Amino acid sequence: MPSDKTKRAKIVAGNWKMNGTAAALAELSKLGAVLPLAPPRVVICPPAPLLFRATQAGSPFGIQIGAQDCHSENAGAFTGDISAEMIADTGATHVILGHSERRDAHHETDMEVRCKVERAWAAGLTAIVCIGETAQEREAANTLDIIGGQLAGSLPDGVTAENTVVAYEPIWAIGTGLVPSFDQIIEVHDFIRQRLTRRYGQATAQMIPLLYGGSVKPDNAAMIFQAENVDGALVGGASLKAVDFAPIIAALAAS
Ligand code: PGA
Repeated sequence: MPSDKTKRAKIVAGNWKMNGTAAALAELSKLGAVLPLAPPRVVICPPAPLLFRATQAGSPFGIQIGAQDCHSENAGAFTGDISAEMIADTGATHVILGHSERRDAHHETDMEVRCKVERAWAAGLTAIVCIGETAQEREAANTLDIIGGQLAGSLPDGVTAENTVVAYEPIWAIGTGLVPSFDQIIEVHDFIRQRLTRRYGQATAQMIPLLYGGSVKPDNAAMIFQAENVDGALVGGASLKAVDFAPIIAALAAS
């Protein structure tokens, strides 16, 4: 019997954050040129002004494009914001929601994230929903409580393996070079799968892709991808250059 892991989609998403102008799109063709024969789903999430051009640059290689946030309303007097419908209109297929940098700097709550997820679905986008604990929460042995609460609050009813990807990103591991131990990654990812199973049922939950994020690099990716409930990665810094991102994609393809 193949394990459920072999049936699930493998996904590597690159979160460029607020980095890159048009010149950075050259990285997409560099990446496309070195993709493995049977690549996992590769999603690049550039800054919003690059979305349309990124879809053009990525499509010859099957590289999909995602945004880094959307508004919880579809239109209106929200200066500076962009809606899920606008993102889909660029040709992008995914949107990262509830990243810790948005929860922190923009005070996004679980409830807001949940509304954004529903908007993303309505626009036909796949939501990459981020959750993760702070260093203090981990030190206080509250990690699973925090993760359970964020999952319950940030995900609407109606999650499917097609419309949602869950990314576990311990906040203390983002951009720091620190990575949880393999056992800690296994513990949290197994817990997320259990909670999804309880809420959405076994058939759905076993197919939902779970990503690990936080200082994923070419030299630790293969280890992380060995975990049964890790189906890929959400990568920040190491996604900016094809030379760093390609080995991470190759490690997932080989896992
Ligand atoms: P990092 O960022 O890979 O640079 O740690 C991950 C993220 O914020 O998604």
